[in-house]
Amino acid sequence: MANIAVVIGARSAIGSSIIETLAKDETVDQIVAISRGGSPQRTENGAKVKSISCNYSEESIRGICESLKSTEGSITQVIICNGILHTDRILPEKRLEDISFATVSEVMHINTIIPLLWLANIGPFLKSRKTCRVAILSARVGSISDNRSGGWYAYRASKAALNMLIKTAAIEFRRRAPNVKLIAFHPGTTDTKLSKPFQRSVPEGKLFTPDFVAGALLKLLKTLDPHSEEEFFDWNGQPVPW
Ligand SMILES: NC(=O)c1ccc[n+]([C@@H]2O[C@H](COP(=O)([O-])OP(=O)(O)OC[C@H]3O[C@@H](n4cnc5c(N)ncnc54)[C@H](OP(=O)(O)O)[C@@H]3O)[C@@H](O)[C@H]2O)c1
Repeated sequence: MANIAVVIGARSAIGSSIIETLAKDETVDQIVAISRGGSPQRTENGAKVKSISCNYSEESIRGICESLKSTEGSITQVIICNGILHTDRILPEKRLEDISFATVSEVMHINTIIPLLWLANIGPFLKSRKTCRVAILSARVGSISDNRSGGWYAYRASKAALNMLIKTAAIEFRRRAPNVKLIAFHPGTTDTKLSKPFQRSVPEGKLFTPDFVAGALLKLLKTLDPHSEEEFFDWNGQPVPW
């Protein structure tokens, strides 16, 4: 039975590197790469990669998950990468006066609600005899207990809410589909469009390449105990406090 990996938010810098690394993995037979833009940015082994375009509406997410149900093989990995920190209209807030309904709702929609809709629609198809590892890219700044510097209200809150949804869904999977291991993953500061404006204060050696982070996540997924109750990990495989 073929092993299928599904990468959502496939055009993110980290997602593209994950796809490239998965394409070289002989234990993975097919990669389904889902993004707004069709083909992922780069792939060496295109034959293994099936690109699907999605506008992330509830209807389009549901339709894609239905079509995955009829694919031959087992989904053994799902990785959800969607997330924004800034756009040409959005800047992370430094103080309360910077908050607006429009920006908070857009960040919450992309960072929290879209991953939740994927989980809700793909989750029922993951029950199988094979272990299925699901990782959602979160961020350490979404850790409530680790919040020492404040700021970035919408981004922090969107990732904190995402973490709660992951924790809650992980409990449901343990009951209803114990072959599914769901985690939140903090990639560390990674050299992508998302972190570009904020890289100056990163200590030397702590700005990672997307390829390094992809390798770290896929190694973690391979070695993760599917029965452990640990659900939030960083790039170094260390648990992060909620
Ligand atoms: N880079 C870092 O330092 C860092 C640190 C901590 C956590 N993270 C997390 O890692 C993940 C990937 O980040 P990255 O650095 O690789 O970012 P990136 O290259 O800027 O990718 C952005 C991602 O967000 C999605 N996205 C952007 N606008 C969207 C919209 N309007 N609707 C739906 N999806 C939208 C994109 O989806 P498409 O693929 O469909 O275009 C893409 O998957 C994010 O969740 C981020 O929060 C990154």
